[in-house]
Amino acid sequence: MESSNIYDRLQELKAFDESKSGVKGLVDAGITKLPRIFIRPPEEIAANEGLRSQRDQTQFKIPVIDLKDTVAGGGDCANGDVVGEVRRAAEMVGFFQVVNHGIPMKLLEEMLTAARKFHELPKEEKAEYYSREEKRKVNFRSNFDLYQSKFANWRDTLFCVMAPEPLDPQELPLVCRDVTMEYSGKVEALGIILFELLSKSLGLKADHLKSMDCAKGHCLLSHYYPPCPEPELTMGTTKHSDPDFLTILLQDHIGGLQVLCDNQWIDVPPIPGALVVNIGDLLQLMSNDRLKSVEHRVVANNEGPRVSVACFFTLYTNPTTRTYGPIKELLSPHNPPLYSHTSLQDFIAYYDNKGLDGFSALGHFKL
Ligand code: OGA
Ligand code: NI
Repeated sequence: MESSNIYDRLQELKAFDESKSGVKGLVDAGITKLPRIFIRPPEEIAANEGLRSQRDQTQFKIPVIDLKDTVAGGGDCANGDVVGEVRRAAEMVGFFQVVNHGIPMKLLEEMLTAARKFHELPKEEKAEYYSREEKRKVNFRSNFDLYQSKFANWRDTLFCVMAPEPLDPQELPLVCRDVTMEYSGKVEALGIILFELLSKSLGLKADHLKSMDCAKGHCLLSHYYPPCPEPELTMGTTKHSDPDFLTILLQDHIGGLQVLCDNQWIDVPPIPGALVVNIGDLLQLMSNDRLKSVEHRVVANNEGPRVSVACFFTLYTNPTTRTYGPIKELLSPHNPPLYSHTSLQDFIAYYDNKGLDGFSALGHFKL
């Protein structure tokens, strides 16, 4: 019984994958019931639903930080108030939103529209980009962990490695080419400011994290969450923490992103013009657990589509031999290292091979 279930599932996963049209393709085909590859197993629901029912009891809110006085002079000139706000948010919540961050509202709107336009291209055009080939810098795919995960997520993604080697714009689909190039430059500049603020908040020199190449590479993930006919049976994105130094996320007005704080799922409400920032696993490791890489998820919705664009600061294609471990300036006899050193290749390979299984990849690197 068990083995025939597994066999059926593999066939169905392959058929879905080979359609090269993602979740959007299923919705366009007019399905009204969720295909079983997307259904959350009962134990997964049980482990998370108890948490969800506590949501209304909390007054907890994700902090919003105003960067108005910081972007002009750069993170090095930031006053102590902003550094303190970033420290509290990064140490206690791991998530915050930033406003007056220097990226024009018009560009944010254009980026979301461009991402949406890509996913709404005719399926033959999109299929040309569909690939699980890791070497390609521009990939359209649904569920990077399709064959590892217990259930597939209701989400399609266009994945673009933008830096450190400059991406040849010709590799990007025309519908999102110019905007993606422009957004990439602006979000990278904001990333540098955030790494300066985070360095200062750890008591390090402003350029410390940048000098460790944290801002050197980034990729953009344009996610598309189609309206879901049976949203309570699946997830937009399974609970996970991010496999990078830092993430800057642009989300549209639909909502659905939630952060796990004190065993409660807290909504990250869409704020027009704001960007969501969260600490990734590698900064938690480097800060020896001072900064928190917090678990989050996206609930599926019958509204939508929902569009978001995540910028992951990490090095995907660069064969750097640098390894990352707890920063020695932060260690003392009372604060010994909690993690071993890892190369980015090893970390990313471990994360991708594990897939989104609800467990942090950091456990594997604990001493
Ligand atoms: C991610 C992520 C959230 C969203 O890309 O890692 O958590 O709102 N995205 O799409
Ligand atoms: Ni994430």
